[in-house]
Amino acid sequence: MTDLMSRFITLEGGEGVGKSTQIAAIADFLRATGDEVVVTREPGGTAYAEALRSLLLTPREEIVTPSAELLTLFAARAQHWHALILPALKRGAWVLSDRFVDATYAYQGAGRGLPVADIAVLERWLLQGRQPGLTLLLDMPVAEGMARARARAALDRFEQEHVDFFERVRVGYLARAEADSQRIRCINAAQPLLAVQTDVLAIVRAYCAEMTGSAT
Ligand code: TMP
Repeated sequence: MTDLMSRFITLEGGEGVGKSTQIAAIADFLRATGDEVVVTREPGGTAYAEALRSLLLTPREEIVTPSAELLTLFAARAQHWHALILPALKRGAWVLSDRFVDATYAYQGAGRGLPVADIAVLERWLLQGRQPGLTLLLDMPVAEGMARARARAALDRFEQEHVDFFERVRVGYLARAEADSQRIRCINAAQPLLAVQTDVLAIVRAYCAEMTGSAT
């Protein structure tokens, strides 16, 4: 696999599963090979998309409708994709993104109950069938992740959701991983940190070896 998307790796999972720590470990591993590595996140990644992130995450009294939330997420994603991700991939850099489209299927699809077909329309419109080369899904029981998220900082608009919402998100993620097990690799994030990192790096190493093999 040596197409444009093969250097695009995304990390997914519920609240408090430890994505940032693992993304840093992957970035260190890839940078050690001398390649350029761009670490980014969604919603966000550019100044405009980060402004939309703050709009999305700020708790507010007004009820934000699921469709407004979905379109704002895709507005941020459109900017992120065209202004940061694609240009970086085109110059040969690795792009590591903390969340991408799978999060929308899990949070807005499974979590909020929006039709998967509506999300798929936006995905096709923006990405033209392109997908990350590899997605790592960090999975752990919801209660554990929520406890970690609560210990971290004040809760954002999503983190204030009821536990049922996060259970649906988790089920949504796991179903996507099962349906596309070649791209989405599920990791037990409830293990001790070092064990999680060992699993993550083993998958990334094998993925790089596969890429190098298929390029020769
Ligand atoms: P973070 O806390 O992992 O940075 O993510 C911010 C929040 O945004 C998180 O609660 C999940 C949510 N989110 C969605 O609901 N849909 C999406 O498509 C993305 C990218 C994030």
